[in-house]
Amino acid sequence: MVDANRTYELPVLPVKNAVVFPSIVLPYVTDLPRSVAAIDYALSREDKTLAIFAQREPGSKDPGLQDLYSIGTAGVVRMFARSDTTVQVFLQGIERIEITELLSRDSFLMARVRSIPMGRDQGIETEAMEREILALAEKYFALAHPSHDVSIPQVVPPEGDFSPIVYSLGQLLGLPVARRQALLEASTLTAAMQLLEEHLNHEIQILEVRKKISDQAQSKISKNQREYILREQLEAIQKELGESNPTESEFAKLKSKFDACKLPEAIYDEVKKDFQRLQQIPTMSPEYQVARSHMELVLDLPWDSATEDNLDLNNARNVLDADHYGLKDIKERIIEQLAVMKLNPGAKSPILCFVGPPGVGKTSLGQSIARSLGRKFERFSLGGMSDEAELRGHRRTYIGAMPGRIIQALRRSGVRNPLVMLDEIDKLGRDFRGDPAAALMEILDPAQNCTFRDNYLDLPFDLSRVFFIVTANTVDTIPKPLFDRMETLHISGYGEEEKKEIAIQYLIPRQRSEAGLTGEQFCIPDATLASIIHRYTREAGVRELERMIGKLARKVAIRFAEQITDPVTIGNEDLAKMLGPERFFIEKLRRTLPPGVATGLAWTESGGDVLYVEVINLPYKESITLTGHLGEVMKESAIAAASYLQSQSGQLHLEIPAGAVHIHVPAGAIPKDGPSAGLTMAAALASLYSGLPTRSDTAMTGEITLSGLVLPVGGIKEKVLAARRADIHRIILPAENKKDLQELPDYIMAAMEFVFVGSIEEALAAVIPGLMPV
Ligand SMILES: Nc1ncnc2c1ncn2[C@@H]1O[C@H](COP(=O)(O)OP(=O)(O)OP(=O)(O)O)[C@@H](O)[C@H]1O
Ligand SMILES: [Mg+2]
Repeated sequence: MVDANRTYELPVLPVKNAVVFPSIVLPYVTDLPRSVAAIDYALSREDKTLAIFAQREPGSKDPGLQDLYSIGTAGVVRMFARSDTTVQVFLQGIERIEITELLSRDSFLMARVRSIPMGRDQGIETEAMEREILALAEKYFALAHPSHDVSIPQVVPPEGDFSPIVYSLGQLLGLPVARRQALLEASTLTAAMQLLEEHLNHEIQILEVRKKISDQAQSKISKNQREYILREQLEAIQKELGESNPTESEFAKLKSKFDACKLPEAIYDEVKKDFQRLQQIPTMSPEYQVARSHMELVLDLPWDSATEDNLDLNNARNVLDADHYGLKDIKERIIEQLAVMKLNPGAKSPILCFVGPPGVGKTSLGQSIARSLGRKFERFSLGGMSDEAELRGHRRTYIGAMPGRIIQALRRSGVRNPLVMLDEIDKLGRDFRGDPAAALMEILDPAQNCTFRDNYLDLPFDLSRVFFIVTANTVDTIPKPLFDRMETLHISGYGEEEKKEIAIQYLIPRQRSEAGLTGEQFCIPDATLASIIHRYTREAGVRELERMIGKLARKVAIRFAEQITDPVTIGNEDLAKMLGPERFFIEKLRRTLPPGVATGLAWTESGGDVLYVEVINLPYKESITLTGHLGEVMKESAIAAASYLQSQSGQLHLEIPAGAVHIHVPAGAIPKDGPSAGLTMAAALASLYSGLPTRSDTAMTGEITLSGLVLPVGGIKEKVLAARRADIHRIILPAENKKDLQELPDYIMAAMEFVFVGSIEEALAAVIPGLMPV
């Protein structure tokens, strides 16, 4: 230990960017010749001591006394290594000194220095300060080096000198040189500790803010990290348990599907690329689900698989006959098609359109054709469909996008040549979402449908092997260009005898077995069947009839379920009890007609119907009023009828009263249109004007012209059947419609009387007895 306030001479070592504190060791490197010389000189002395002063400006190469702080440290050179020009040493501070005099300025500086030991102060305040410094230092190290457990109080001897702690903290904290110098110059320990405390607080604040910032960033990252780690752990656990990763096994499944899938060459590369891309999408991303569903669809589609057609004509005939009564023309057309397919396997499948009233077997015939051909059957309804995307699919970019109905049907069927039935094409809608008819056109056009592109699938799919059958109740509302692409086959309604046959051969056995009854247990004799057809149904098809039979069968089933075991034969008298009151009898009430009423026949989507035209004369200003929900064409034909009669009143001996006429056609709520009621209107008016009633057993249909001609109309078969259902046996028809009667079964022809007319006059003569003087 050096004495206080003594002076002695030492070689001077100026140091750059550093302050050497007493009792602290500092490594130091220099290549300044003066410094090297000073070190050499010190080493040659016994005490090996230097006077170490910090430079005010680190830049100066040859610092003089004025460039150095005047307070420094006497220090011993501890170890040293040197190369040609540089010297490395460890300097250990011994005591604080102050320059008093500069001695020589030869190869290095010599100075006379005076030791200035630090003022020792003791007491409560100093002790409190010491503890504060330790606490702060601990906090500082905890923040700065969280992973190292530094406990400073344990390092300090309880009663020892605290200044080495202050100096070493000054060293460790990395203070700027000016501050270190200030610390060195502090005259008392308390003053030094104050400086240190200030600095520690400042550093701690900075560290705390930094920690806060990094914590915030960390919490963001750690959520993702957490998920990642959990997932990794899950995988590890699954591996341990011998379960494979679900996404991996899923992928393996998809891969084996891909390998097995016989994709067409044209799209193979594209799908393969998609498949490889799928592998790269992270399973967590929403895009993955979309891409995977799409890939699953692609691999599910029947690109190559098809059923073998059964082209045995006899078998087909048997199947068709087994399922449906009658329908000769259609069955024949199907057999023709089979023959074509047999001779020319590459022939394009036709697109057939079955048109007819409800319940005549259009849909069920389609099923039966599929069965006879051995094809898969898929069906969906176009009724009310107004969104093009329903047929053609949504683009994959939309959330919840799906393929269109056609592609869905193909996926379900699992073959590329199913029989697809599109029901109710006449009820196709159309609105702002697009026109499904346009999409249908592409689907049904044999020239285009071999490369049908669904929006969702976004790959061309060949629909040319699909056998399309379309059904409709009327052709009027089918868009023309669409209608053009199809081959229309009409199924008209059934007459009473046909219905009876259908009931006996198909409906009764079916309903009977559905109710769990046998042939003996449940029997409907012909007479009862006729009553059901007449009084409980009024339809062109047989759907209602089947429903009635089903109702009877269920009522009988109740009896058997309740142990009443004698066979049940349904008689006419049972019907009211089992089916409720008779539903249809109104037509038969009109046995006699007052003048001004005539019986017409109309064609409707649900078959034919009988309609009455009623006319009365009113004492108003001359005019024609028409009611009964009539269309434009029907109104015009009423006016034409009135005008014709006016012009022919002399010849026909009609007295046309002045005033208005009111023409009404019940049932008022049902819309009616078309020219075919013209003849009936003329008859009703003629009857009114002549005061003679029309024949109640005679119905008529026909379009009229102003010159008195009767023109042919459509729907003859339906109209005749409707007349027969209403118990009308005499029909006036346009002469040119005679050929249409060929469609009618013989038993109906035999029961009906037809009057063919070419002019209105002939018709009036036939329906209003006594109008024309013979
Ligand atoms: N000629 C027939 N022979 C046997 N059963 C028939 C015949 N015609 C219709 N059916 C039966 O009538 C029922 C109704 O037929 P289907 O559902 O095919 O009518 P549809 O013509 O498709 O009617 P819609 O136009 O209302 O769809 C079916 O159970 C069907 O088996
Ligand atoms: Mg149908």
